[in-house]
Amino acid sequence: MRVGININNTDFELEVHPGDFLLRVLRGQGFYGVKHGCETGECGACTVLLDGKPVNTCILLAAQADGHRIETIENLGKHPEMGWRETEGLDPIQNAFVISGAIQCGYCTPAMILVARELLSRNLTPSEKEVRETLSGVLCRCTGYIKPVQAVLRAAAVLRGEAVEPIGGAIPAPPEWLGSGEAGSGVEGELPTETSPDSDTRKILAPSKVLPKIAITPEVESWRSVGKPEKKVDAGKLVQGKPAFAADFEKRGMLVAKVLHSPVAHARIKRIDASRARALSGVAAVLTYQDIPRVIYSTAGQSDPIPGPLDTFSLDNKVRFVGDRVAFVAAETEEIALAALELIDVEYELLPAVFDPARAMETGAPIIHDEPEYVNFAESDPSRNLAAHIRIDIGDVERGFSEADRIFEAEYEVPKVQQAHIEPHVAITYWDEDDRLVIRTSTQVPFHVRRQLAPVLGLPIKRIRVIKPRIGGGFGGKQEVLIEDVAAHLTIATGRPVIYEYTREEEFIAARSRHPMRIRMKTGVKLDGTIIANAMYALSDTGAYGCHALTVTGNTGHKAMALYVGDGPYRKSPNIRFYADIVYTNHPPAGAYRGYGVPQGFWAVERHMEKIARELGLDPIEFRLKNTLRQGELQPFSTAWSEGREPRPERIETCALEECVRQGKAAIGWDQKFNNPEWHQVPGAPHLRRGIGVALVMQGTAIPYLDMGGASIKMNDDGSFNLLVGATDLGTGSDTVLAQMAAEVLGVPVEDIITYSSDTDFTPFDKGAYASSTTYISGAAVVRAAEAAAARIRQRAARILNEQGGGLLIAPEEIRLADRQAMSPDGRSVSMSEIGHHALHHMDQEQIMGTGSYVSPVAPPPFAAQFAEVTVDVETGQVVVEQLVMAVDSGVIVNPITASGQIEGGMTQALGYAVCEEMVFGEDGSARERSLRDYHIFQAHEMPELTTIFVETFEPSHPFGVKAVAEIPMDGVAPAVGNAVFDACGVHIDSNPITPEKVWRALRKPSNSGSKQSG
Ligand code: FES
Ligand code: FES
Repeated sequence: MRVGININNTDFELEVHPGDFLLRVLRGQGFYGVKHGCETGECGACTVLLDGKPVNTCILLAAQADGHRIETIENLGKHPEMGWRETEGLDPIQNAFVISGAIQCGYCTPAMILVARELLSRNLTPSEKEVRETLSGVLCRCTGYIKPVQAVLRAAAVLRGEAVEPIGGAIPAPPEWLGSGEAGSGVEGELPTETSPDSDTRKILAPSKVLPKIAITPEVESWRSVGKPEKKVDAGKLVQGKPAFAADFEKRGMLVAKVLHSPVAHARIKRIDASRARALSGVAAVLTYQDIPRVIYSTAGQSDPIPGPLDTFSLDNKVRFVGDRVAFVAAETEEIALAALELIDVEYELLPAVFDPARAMETGAPIIHDEPEYVNFAESDPSRNLAAHIRIDIGDVERGFSEADRIFEAEYEVPKVQQAHIEPHVAITYWDEDDRLVIRTSTQVPFHVRRQLAPVLGLPIKRIRVIKPRIGGGFGGKQEVLIEDVAAHLTIATGRPVIYEYTREEEFIAARSRHPMRIRMKTGVKLDGTIIANAMYALSDTGAYGCHALTVTGNTGHKAMALYVGDGPYRKSPNIRFYADIVYTNHPPAGAYRGYGVPQGFWAVERHMEKIARELGLDPIEFRLKNTLRQGELQPFSTAWSEGREPRPERIETCALEECVRQGKAAIGWDQKFNNPEWHQVPGAPHLRRGIGVALVMQGTAIPYLDMGGASIKMNDDGSFNLLVGATDLGTGSDTVLAQMAAEVLGVPVEDIITYSSDTDFTPFDKGAYASSTTYISGAAVVRAAEAAAARIRQRAARILNEQGGGLLIAPEEIRLADRQAMSPDGRSVSMSEIGHHALHHMDQEQIMGTGSYVSPVAPPPFAAQFAEVTVDVETGQVVVEQLVMAVDSGVIVNPITASGQIEGGMTQALGYAVCEEMVFGEDGSARERSLRDYHIFQAHEMPELTTIFVETFEPSHPFGVKAVAEIPMDGVAPAVGNAVFDACGVHIDSNPITPEKVWRALRKPSNSGSKQSG
């Protein structure tokens, strides 16, 4: 049928099928700013304005748009400089999103801007509540919504013609604020108030709502780029909805791939007949396990050697979970591919399935991996369904228990949860003109994809090129070589380009998720609160495959159990035990998810510490700080374990945990609220109780002696630079912070650094975006590359200046680079553009460039204090989280706006982990949650108040003193909320999420009678 639609003021006459949704039709016309995030109208990524009103195009038929007017993001502003053609520049809303740091991955950004546009077209003075309600139709998994909301309010002010506050650099705290021994003393004990630069108390200052509160280290004050809230280098393209993502790509003759997923949890494929599917018109290929080589590998995107078992085939004669792969189809259209799936005849020989990890380890349990090709790692034992196991003893734990006054034991449980990045997994493959296989994919690990898939596809590494465009969020879900092989096998089979994109349902049934665990804690304590022995046993469900099995669960102990070392002599020689079994079951596989095992550990550790403190009648914060790891001490696990490699003792060089506690307490008003019976009541609402809770946490920064980042920088003849990095910006802003570091070294503004990441053909190697390592590892590589280029620039500058004469002879090392100039001590200078031009065109021509790579010998941990305030309805069990505060020592903050965005987004994901997110499976192993309707992630109008405070330290192992920031916000929100719920109503909920039902049941347990008990 033909439809007539006006799109962005141009009339289109389009031939569509009656069942075509508008989303696909618009993208087919090249309007790639309209994004696919689901198929059910839940995420809002596909929003356009239809006759001025927002609609979800994934559920609106193209036929319904006949005769209507559509506006997409492409109709808004343009880059202000487009050669000789002048434009009006970006739209004020787009501008506000760029300036306010409202963009992380940018996948939701076009939709957010369009709904904001509709709001501001009818109301130029919206309240924050109205803005939040408007944005609630667009899910964002990255930002925590603070900055998008502020962006819309800012745009409204601009459109009203008002002046808006510039978003400048962070205001430094007074120099005595850190390291004085009495730092923060003016803050503690006060109710949180707005602060001003001339306030006489020692407060950290926040000039704008989109910037965090931050106390900077003295080193930062002299820097021009590092430490400043620079605009994201990719913001321009994202705010315009440019075709920047993996699926925004056209290739003639591209086939659509679909996968037949197993309907049963455990079975052998007795017979599979694809002949009917192959015969269907429009089907280009159907592949079963009989059609492709049987190559065992691991899908975990990790450096070589892979720290886990090899237990996966692209296609196997056995299925191990509901959602496992059975066959691949490539067809001319999605409809034909889906129809072909229906025509594949499969006869399954059902095998007994096992879903309980404890049962899976018992003798006689069904064996999930009986394939002879299985490759062991770290004492994995497939005959016992054991993907990995860990036994770490530090000190003498049994002796510690024997010396304890009290021993506390309890069990905790954490669920399986989903990364829920809004951009689904997507990969496009094709043969290039040199018959090399190109894989354009939304991945966090392009170099691992290339290395790991080469044997699977039967190609040498050199004949594979992996391109990583912008990524619409990953959070660990894309640290998996998950779908690239599907498209690649089909391209090999057909010779044609293939696109394979997960549906939202596939994200839930076939992608990776956080490991669910049952965790047993046993802690020996002296009556004065000294921890003298601490033991954890984690039973971890890796699901059907052991990707990340060892390393995720290793982190559960390695980080969470390292924080509490004890005090007095026990501090010098802590007694810590961490045992874990990581077990195969017939659930969908778990994998990497932001925090990487640490949130599981801190749920148990921090709930347990709260119980101990309360039982002993100790202040929960003082009890914690008495026992926590301090600056100058050894990370206890560094003496005992290193992901299956040789451990190397590592000293903690920086730790501002006590200061984080002080600042966090002041921000949330701890001293006025904790132990204040009056505050715990809600006037006029006797069914409501207020509570406040805390959790202290630490993470790591990169994997020492293993993960490597590389960078190269070349100078252009206008004095700009191309920075090529293998590092993978998945929305975190890493391209921006790497450019800031390069700019700082080279003495140019960030706009003179053109960053490109990452393409295995063109950029240096990098292990990818995981383990909180990009700013630290890849950043150090960038600094090395920039320093190498800077050395060449100084040489040439000295030569030019000496040839010009008019002063003393200058040595290169005397030259300072700043303000796009190379400056000699006697005041003479030569510009970067002159140097670049001179080097490429004039005398003794050379390409000024530098390369650098970096492997760290250490993994300096960031530390944080996280606080939560809740209101509990004791009649219904409903928990409302009112505010979250996080004070974090992440070393030097390279960009306060992107870093605080990481904290806000991380806290928001962790809030879901605390109160609502959970994947549940039926008795047959099938998933209950299959859409973003079933699986609730926080929306803009549901958010509590979020406060981020950075307490900077200067980590000496990095040239700019940085540590990690991206993962640590995941760690402490859930236990802080759990502790606040106990504070509010006296019940301990030991399994998250803390649902109303759990609270309601716990409150009504006969043994409870209003006091504490295990839930
Ligand atoms: S609401 Fe349409 S793609 Fe999600
Ligand atoms: S910035 Fe909103 S989903 Fe990533």
